[in-house]
Amino acid sequence: MPIEYKINLPLDLEAFIGVYQASSLGERRPVAEPQRMQRMLEEADLTVSAWDGDKLVGLARSLTDWAYCCYLADLTVADSHQRLGIGKELIRQTQAALEPGAMLVLLAAPAAADYYPRIGMEKHPSAWILRPGEKI
Ligand SMILES: CC(C)(COP(=O)(O)OP(=O)(O)OC[C@H]1O[C@@H](n2cnc3c(N)ncnc32)[C@H](O)[C@@H]1OP(=O)(O)O)[C@@H](O)C(=O)NCCC(=O)NCCS
Repeated sequence: MPIEYKINLPLDLEAFIGVYQASSLGERRPVAEPQRMQRMLEEADLTVSAWDGDKLVGLARSLTDWAYCCYLADLTVADSHQRLGIGKELIRQTQAALEPGAMLVLLAAPAAADYYPRIGMEKHPSAWILRPGEKI
């Protein structure tokens, strides 16, 4: 069955949490805190979801102003559906939903550090993070 992609389709919380748990990204996101996950779902500007029939098998979740930049906060493809081109298509559709002048930025999880150069993204040498609770 071909994979179907949906832009900003409303998702229920259980399916949303489930698609993180379906890959190693579930270990790096607050999946045990449903209220926080609910907020992540509700406040996202752009989600692209990938469906195998009625099963949610991939998700790109972004925060964006649409015109200048888009932070691709989460990209997950279920272990059962990896290496089929779904991740690449989720990113392609995310970019396609933005104005042509907008750039995509993201932080790679260790498991995906080799993925982004492989699909043609450029490493930025000057990305900076203020972690929760850290002060400037
Ligand atoms: C990283 C991830 C999103 C990739 O999605 P995917 O649908 O499996 O990848 P694709 O099918 O789009 O792969 C595109 C190409 O990258 C390669 N690739 C896939 N995963 C890779 C990885 N982890 N490292 C290096 N190359 C990878 C594929 O073999 C493919 O190569 P090809 O075009 O030469 O055939 C997915 O594996 C995943 O969800 N991983 C766990 C969660 C995670 O780390 N998410 C990223 C958070 S920043």
